[in-house]
Amino acid sequence: MFPNVLANSPSIMHPNYSFSILLSIGLYAAAGSVVADEQLDPQPVIEGRQSALRDIGAAFKGITDELRKTAPSLPQIRHYARQIDDLAKQQTFWFPAGTGPEADIETAAKPEIWQQPAQFKAAQTAFGEQVTKLVSVAAADNVPAIKSQWQALGKTCKGCHDKFREKDQ
Ligand code: HEC
Repeated sequence: MFPNVLANSPSIMHPNYSFSILLSIGLYAAAGSVVADEQLDPQPVIEGRQSALRDIGAAFKGITDELRKTAPSLPQIRHYARQIDDLAKQQTFWFPAGTGPEADIETAAKPEIWQQPAQFKAAQTAFGEQVTKLVSVAAADNVPAIKSQWQALGKTCKGCHDKFREKDQ
């Protein structure tokens, strides 16, 4: 019933492009849960969150690469941190009921996401808090402080993946 916003996308590689897609998916998902869950088309939601998570992965790697340099670019780090923060603000829409392995669309999302909703929400909250903190720490020219906040953020990625994402993907 909802248009498949991703099927004919020319490219989902551009971060801003997929971000706007994610916004619309958020709206679809929200509408779906208000109207009736069984009407939700899982495909754009699953593909949309995977695209957002790939962008998050690329931005996180961008920060990692900068921090390995002898003179990291702080504007670059700020840009990537803001990008992750913007995407993280959409994450509550990414895992509506019906978008797990049962949806028959390739996904690494484990059933535990829906079986342990409080723990999953806590993992999302921790992620959101740590990335927002990275944005504020990165506003100052203090590379060691940025590095330690980047590590704290990385722990929230790993913490969630260890519990809620299939290993071999
Ligand atoms: C609250 C849980 C959670 C947090 C926090 C989280 N992820 Fe994930 N991530 C997932 C799940 C679940 C999947 C699998 C999604 C799917 O396949 O539908 C995933 C998938 C991914 C993917 C693969 C996307 C694809 O399909 O190509 C990347 C890359 C990724 N995450 C990077 C990160 C990074 C980097 C962070 C932290 C900065 C992070 N994630 C934080 C749960 C999380």
